[in-house]
Amino acid sequence: METMATQPSQDAAEAWQPWHDERALRCINCQRTFSLRAILYHCPDCGDLLDVVYPRPQFDPEAVRKRWWRRRASKKHIDQSGVWRFRELLPFYDDEHQLVTYPEGNTPLLDAARSARYAGVRHLRFKHLGFNPTGSFKDYGMVAGVTQARILGMRAVACASTGNTSASMAAYAARAGLSAIVLVPEGGVSFAKLSQSLDYGALTLQIRGDFDAAQTLLQEIAPDLGIYILNSINPFRLEGQKSVMLELLEQCDWKAPDRIVVPGGNLGNSSSYGKALRELDDLGMLSKRPRITIVQAGGAAPLYDAFTQGHPDRLVRVHARTLATAIKIGAPVSWKKARRAVNWSDGWVTSVGEQDIADAKAIIGSDGIGCEPASATTLAAIRRLAREGTDKRVDPDEDIVAILTGNILKDADYTLRYHSRELYEEFTTESTVVNKGKKLESNYANPPVVVDATAEALTAAIRSRLA
Ligand SMILES: Cc1ncc(COP(=O)(O)O)c(C=O)c1O
Ligand SMILES: [Zn+2]
Repeated sequence: METMATQPSQDAAEAWQPWHDERALRCINCQRTFSLRAILYHCPDCGDLLDVVYPRPQFDPEAVRKRWWRRRASKKHIDQSGVWRFRELLPFYDDEHQLVTYPEGNTPLLDAARSARYAGVRHLRFKHLGFNPTGSFKDYGMVAGVTQARILGMRAVACASTGNTSASMAAYAARAGLSAIVLVPEGGVSFAKLSQSLDYGALTLQIRGDFDAAQTLLQEIAPDLGIYILNSINPFRLEGQKSVMLELLEQCDWKAPDRIVVPGGNLGNSSSYGKALRELDDLGMLSKRPRITIVQAGGAAPLYDAFTQGHPDRLVRVHARTLATAIKIGAPVSWKKARRAVNWSDGWVTSVGEQDIADAKAIIGSDGIGCEPASATTLAAIRRLAREGTDKRVDPDEDIVAILTGNILKDADYTLRYHSRELYEEFTTESTVVNKGKKLESNYANPPVVVDATAEALTAAIRSRLA
């Protein structure tokens, strides 16, 4: 049962100043600023997270929108990037030659009639970030993080990952000529993601521990080794991810949707959306504040707990459990930035169970779209909020955009198990079933059909489907 949230005062969210008189890193708590080129992930004074801040840009919004649109037709590499096309809002570089690009972004906004019907809403679209070079939204941020690594003259970059960050970092490091070191939980990452970081040449360390342990260890050892951390604690990653919102608004002709629903793991993505919208709002480029609605998997929902269990100023770490391994995170580093985004946008945090994620994923698939399990939390959440009478419930007439964060091929094993009615709540890897646990229902299964290699058998199978 949903309980009423005790949110921090709206005043605190309103006090969030987007700009600074010079480019800097600024603590989100004590507001102290540091050099833009300092290798810092936390405020040295109070230990809190850092934002990249800039002087308020001086441009005419209409003229800059036209420029962003025109760049799509340009042959220049950075203009073809869905990140650097919007570079006026990410001016942390000194010279355009410093910018790394694959290119990335330019992902589609898709109508999804079956998914909308399933959730019980009228206007639902998916912004599918799985159409990126390495198949997930991470490329939007990694291009900025690797650019900053190059500006700083770093030789090696590193991350702890549930799989997508490592795939993205490995590829971008290779493109930029940097060494890549990735830490992943042994047996906790899909084969597709693991294979990417191997193929892109990263030193791939499988930790006998979970993601949270890997993240903590990396922060301990990185300074001595002189390696640059590219987890989403790195504020430059979030600068790149802001451009998801810029692309989206452009795709909506700058008419902001009512609500943006995004999966939450380490909570960097939702945080970056908040920062982008905050900046655009201040520049008079946002027609309304879309409610940022974060979804966590029920077994990995510490932010949801903080919002609904009466302790919004304290995150209580949980032992994360979910088949949506991308968001299997018990102590998300960016939770305070995510909370700021939710409060500023009058948004919400919710959670969904394994069964609901599995079914929602199949429905997204039936729209011909497909995604990885973490992304399907969005549809499950919209359905939940449209049905339940919470104080932030989804109105069926709202204009909703859900963010699909990863490509369906990122976790083919999950998809196959679902459609073969072989999906269990507990399994560690594709190959080793450690504990089968509770079987999930495959309510929308489309199982493969084995037929004899005869014309009669094939005809009968096809006829029965077309009947
Ligand atoms: C597919 C996918 N969705 C969602 C997330 C969560 O994003 P964030 O950690 O920025 O909250 C991740 C993070 O790894 C991911 O890989
Ligand atoms: Zn501080």
